[in-house]
Amino acid sequence: MAEAICDIVELRMTEAGLAGTILCPVDMQPAPGQYLLAHSGSPDDLLPVPLFRAGPADGRPEMAVAAPLPPAWQAASRLHVRGPLGSGFHLPPDARSVALAAVDASEDRLMPLVHQALAQGASVTLFTAQVPAGLPFQVEALPPAVLPEAVRWADYLALDLPAGKAADWRSILRIPPGARCPCTAEVLVRAPMPCGGRALCGVCSLRTRSGWKLICRDGPVFDLNELE
Ligand code: FES
Repeated sequence: MAEAICDIVELRMTEAGLAGTILCPVDMQPAPGQYLLAHSGSPDDLLPVPLFRAGPADGRPEMAVAAPLPPAWQAASRLHVRGPLGSGFHLPPDARSVALAAVDASEDRLMPLVHQALAQGASVTLFTAQVPAGLPFQVEALPPAVLPEAVRWADYLALDLPAGKAADWRSILRIPPGARCPCTAEVLVRAPMPCGGRALCGVCSLRTRSGWKLICRDGPVFDLNELE
């Protein structure tokens, strides 16, 4: 795992909060679903925060990062960054129908997966109440109300869920209690991850079918069927 000082080169306010772009060494940039842990060093910035890439891996140091960023961050601030950390998405190379949905968040964290799926020739459907700016034209956007139908036709489903709703995935997909998701499915579980596994603080603990896991280290992406 590497460490670096990264400059914030752009910040903008979005509906999901502050988003932006940092300059990050290409070999440190996280894969879809992985994250960097960043701290500005400012006294207003109490704990490190996870940074998720919000765009394609294009081999350039400019890396779009997902909202919400700490409100105290400013353009031209410098960040102490380490990573990449965690386990990301495992998009099957032969997946041809890919469905994605973010619950109670922007689709930013799923955008690298959108680009990865398009690059391997998959048809991609994003379930969203509002089509995000910059969504590639090849992506079909459907309302969240029809997300439960995706488990019947998708080769691969990716969700972005807050940890507080991790146990609600069956009701979100209208899958009966105790039943498994019929398609290959993974979930990015969002949670504060202040130590990134370094101090084993336990803040990010998540109960799964195979026991307690650390979202920061064992995730943040999990097999959906592993969630209780
Ligand atoms: S953030 Fe400390 S153990 Fe996960």
